[in-house]
Amino acid sequence: MILFRHRIGLNFIASMAKNEALGLPLSGIGGIETWIDALEFILVGASTLQVTTGIMHYGYRIVEDMIEGLSDFMTERGVDRISDLVGKALPNLHETEDFEVDRQGITQYDLDRCIGCGQCYLVCQDAAGQALEWDSGTRRPNLIEDKCLSCMLCKFVCPVPELISFKEMPAEWHRRETAVMDSSMEKEIKVEPFTKEGPNECVI
Ligand SMILES: Cc1cc2nc3c(=O)[nH]c(=O)nc-3n(C[C@H](O)[C@H](O)[C@H](O)COP(=O)(O)O)c2cc1C
Ligand code: SF4
Ligand code: SF4
Repeated sequence: MILFRHRIGLNFIASMAKNEALGLPLSGIGGIETWIDALEFILVGASTLQVTTGIMHYGYRIVEDMIEGLSDFMTERGVDRISDLVGKALPNLHETEDFEVDRQGITQYDLDRCIGCGQCYLVCQDAAGQALEWDSGTRRPNLIEDKCLSCMLCKFVCPVPELISFKEMPAEWHRRETAVMDSSMEKEIKVEPFTKEGPNECVI
């Protein structure tokens, strides 16, 4: 599974690649540091790549790492030429208005296969709905269903394939409204409405 992270740059490349009238070779750029970043740009239509900040931070060696990672990926999947991957993901891209936003769901965990690494808990706590509790005795996550945003970030980080999956919920099911923020934070954060006159501040 590929996680598309550099959304703005990828979106521009994909839009240009889909525009057949343009007919130009495209070069991916913006936040490329790993072979997965490189692959993401190639899959949406880039036939060359450029890297600046990554090399300034880590040196030219990261290019060798990218070549190695991409080579392993291609060998695993029996791909002979990098050009065979250019634009390969384009048919799978959809406009947001195509999404069925009426569908809703949560995650479900096959905990018999869990290795207790805690990655799901960390990502849910810091970047998602704080919908997981962590049982430090059994080293297993416990889902609070009505806080789950079904963002599937936990699935992206879980090292055990297909342990975490999407479970559709009935139309009458309701997610807790405060799910996006830990309710203990609510009394500490005061948000003033944005107006021309001010104060326009978020005070912590
Ligand atoms: C220190 C620095 C200097 C740059 N100098 C130039 C430049 O002279 N001409 C140019 O077109 N872009 C320049 N850029 C922009 C980069 O080419 C590139 O567009 C941008 O950094 C995004 O790619 P990255 O995420 O790999 O850094 C520079 C970027 C950095 C960080
Ligand atoms: S889907 Fe998102 S909100 Fe739900 S448990 Fe996973 S990371 Fe947390
Ligand atoms: S990330 Fe996966 S393996 Fe790790 S604790 Fe969570 S469910 Fe278990």
